[in-house]
Amino acid sequence: MHIPPKASIVVLTGAGISAESGLATFRDNGGLWADHDIRDVATPEGFHRNPDLVFDFYNMRRREAAKASPNAAHNALARLENAWDGPFLLITQNVDSLHEKAGSKNVLHMHGKLNSALCYECGSHQQWDGDLDDGEVCTSCARAALRPDIVWFGEMPYDMERIEEALGGAELFVSIGTSGTVYPAAGFVMEAAGNGARTVEVNLQATGNPLFEDCYEGPAATTVPAFVEALLAGR
Ligand code: OAD
Repeated sequence: MHIPPKASIVVLTGAGISAESGLATFRDNGGLWADHDIRDVATPEGFHRNPDLVFDFYNMRRREAAKASPNAAHNALARLENAWDGPFLLITQNVDSLHEKAGSKNVLHMHGKLNSALCYECGSHQQWDGDLDDGEVCTSCARAALRPDIVWFGEMPYDMERIEEALGGAELFVSIGTSGTVYPAAGFVMEAAGNGARTVEVNLQATGNPLFEDCYEGPAATTVPAFVEALLAGR
């Protein structure tokens, strides 16, 4: 693939990139939303109704994510960022830290992070690595008001200004391992394409979104390294 050497690249990742690291996706067979009701564990109303259920769900996911290691797809994106001469931004919908563990630097977690807690009284964020339960106290305001730092349905994703700016200048937009069903992330390809970016999808199976000009099908740990090598070779 030939992309100008200093082109601006924006990559969007979803749960599919972490599947081969052993972390469940949401909407595949046996995915997280098959066993858990979104309204119970991924909305502010669900948290208000039954906080313990919500704490338990994210404690389970935090423990699993802590044990997981990056796979070849995460490693390839870190290599791309390191080798690329132009601007590079990695936007992830994932709440695990596998991109950082692989060495990626310029990463935005638009749906939050498992290893962070959010104070719903003062809005501060703090690193949180173990289980988080009701009654934990915020280090900024000293109130017992911490919740998982996850963007739930009905809440505004993080870093949207920086994301919009990057999408406005992107010359290559790559979407990896996401079903493209949750907005605003699902609309990024339209914005990037509208601004003239080349658009590529890398997924187990093509999502069928006609806005992607190219699609690389197959498991991310195989397809992403191949895609990255082709991109770097074509400079
Ligand atoms: P989904 O579970 O909706 O989609 C996962 C995508 O990854 C699907 O298109 C699969 O085909 C693909 N996939 C599965 N295994 C793969 C593999 N080994 N290699 C490549 N692709 C693979 O997950 P997301 O699109 O990330 O939000 O979901 C978006 C958001 O919905 C999540 O961030 C989460 C969820 O509700 C919140 O919790 C706010």
